[in-house]
Amino acid sequence: MMVQLEELQNEAEGEIGAARSEKELLDIRTRYLGRRGILTGLLRDISKVSLQDRPLLGKKGNDVKDFLTEKIDMALSLIRDADKEEAIVQETIDVTLEGRRIKPGRLHPITQVKNEICAIFSSLGFSIEEGPEVEREYYNFEALNIPDDHPARDMQDTFYIENDILLRTHTSPVQVRVMQDQAPPIRILSPGRVYRPDFDISHTPMFHQIEGLLVDKGVCFADLKGVLTIFLQGVFGKKTIVRFRPSFFPFTEPSAEIDIQCTMCQGKGCRICGQTGWLEILGAGMVDPNVFRNVNYDPDEYSGFAFGLGIERVAMLKYGISDIRLFFENDWRFLSQF
Ligand code: PHE
Repeated sequence: MMVQLEELQNEAEGEIGAARSEKELLDIRTRYLGRRGILTGLLRDISKVSLQDRPLLGKKGNDVKDFLTEKIDMALSLIRDADKEEAIVQETIDVTLEGRRIKPGRLHPITQVKNEICAIFSSLGFSIEEGPEVEREYYNFEALNIPDDHPARDMQDTFYIENDILLRTHTSPVQVRVMQDQAPPIRILSPGRVYRPDFDISHTPMFHQIEGLLVDKGVCFADLKGVLTIFLQGVFGKKTIVRFRPSFFPFTEPSAEIDIQCTMCQGKGCRICGQTGWLEILGAGMVDPNVFRNVNYDPDEYSGFAFGLGIERVAMLKYGISDIRLFFENDWRFLSQF
């Protein structure tokens, strides 16, 4: 038995020396020292030898066990260190590689221009009101004095959802909703999405407008001119030259379209302004008495003005953007410029 133990120790030592991985070493440990291991079996057999031989064999058995345990532990820690070393080498970072750029989020240019316009008007005492994008025909047309046979009612120009439900074609219905809910004086601004079935370099089926409405006693056209001039010079610069041109809207009387002198050519005439020297920015006018009657305001007691503008158009002129569709393509290279 002594010889057996001796041989077993040599054999196991050889195997430990030859082992190349953690797994091999763990297998060896199980095979020799495990509960059903070879050495464990031999040690159990010691109880069967004569009483006289037992102490010596017992001591030898334990020595072999301690010896192999220590050998395996040592070999394991060597291999584990080597594995760690290897992992560190494998995982080194190549600091010469170009980093991945972090693209910070920004406000969309339309939102930026909207905020800027809202800030100018809130400094003039206007508050923000919003209305629904899915709107009733009554608010979008009828209450705004747009009769049934008006061309704007044509199916061609409006997205209808059901009989008298549509996607609003402008923000003007908010005027009516606000006047239905509130008594004068009124001074509101209403930004929001509007919809028309057009799609080309200067039209998208969804775009943004800002509506303004001011109603009080004794409001006159000079007030309209003053407020809109302050607004346009705020957005396009103090020196901006403003022109009021007679026009027509069913819900205002008199009506005007408001131009600024072309910012690209200073009025000389260029491609942007179609050689006219002027850029059309706003529609506006004094609220039509029929609109007041529809919301039970007395047109003899109150007067007011309203205006509407396209935010995309202002943003395009402000930043020199030639295609409105760029706003809605979400191309990072475009958006990151604002
Ligand atoms: N709603 C008009 C449009 O979409 C603009 C406008 C608003 C004109 C208010 C006059 C008064 O073209």
